Amino acid sequence: MDDAALLNELEPVAARLLERHLSTTKEWFPHELVPWSRGRNFAPGEDWTPDELAPPPAVRSALFVNLLTEDNLPYYSMEIHEMFSAEGAWGEWARRWTAEEGRHSIVMRDWLTVTRAIDPIGLERGRMSQVSSAIVPHPASPVSGLVYVTLQELATRISHHNTGKLLEDKPGYEIMKRVAADENLHYLFYRDMTTAALQVDPSAVVIAIEAEVRDFAMPGVGIPDFDAHAKAIAKAGIYDYSIHHDQILVPVILRHWKLEDLTGLSDEAEHARDAALTRIARIGKAAQRLRERSAALAPA
Ligand SMILES: [Fe+2]
Ligand SMILES: [Fe+2]
Repeated sequence: MDDAALLNELEPVAARLLERHLSTTKEWFPHELVPWSRGRNFAPGEDWTPDELAPPPAVRSALFVNLLTEDNLPYYSMEIHEMFSAEGAWGEWARRWTAEEGRHSIVMRDWLTVTRAIDPIGLERGRMSQVSSAIVPHPASPVSGLVYVTLQELATRISHHNTGKLLEDKPGYEIMKRVAADENLHYLFYRDMTTAALQVDPSAVVIAIEAEVRDFAMPGVGIPDFDAHAKAIAKAGIYDYSIHHDQILVPVILRHWKLEDLTGLSDEAEHARDAALTRIARIGKAAQRLRERSAALAPA
């Protein structure tokens, strides 16, 4: 089935899931979550010091990467419009999603500015560099896109929430939890779109799942020093291999999409399924080794 026919077939599902989304999501206001009274002017020439709030470096890395990823919204939005459609329920979803994503960078940046949790100059330079580079993933097809954004929205939910839990700051925690709740609803939309796609063209979806399991990377390429930040984020347990395996690959691909039990697959899709299952098992073993190693290193 070609891309256009598949998207057309799935449009009524997109309409239904959009309606479900709109009836589930609750209106919220970034300005109400920000502790404005803690803010003060940044005098010219006065260097930033982490005097008010000094989260551990790994948490700072996570805030930096998470916010710059949210800042890259124009290109994600473009990608979503092009990959699915700007028309009908697909287009309506893409625009609603864009509007919701926009408040994530607003609320996070406002909180960071008043609490001085991150150097605002480094952050702004990072934003300029990230947004000027326009680097975002380009899934090979709409089906690959659905699989990718499902995993990515869930990964983002987990990463925002875990970052919040490590902030010793109540408003910061509430903000990250609120943003994570939006990401969760985005995840549910895409997860259930993919489930519907599995009914229409299971072979295409399985081939896409295999590719995404093989290549999935958290968004962030294009962010200055991304690799070093990603390492720190993993080490702090905000987002690492075992989270990727235990909280994303297993619950979504194995339990929800039931990769092992799918029937009616082409030969190519059967091979892809085997490869994906092998890789997920391998990632699980690597995650287990990591857990054992960090348990051995932890103080008794
Ligand atoms: Fe977001
Ligand atoms: Fe999202």
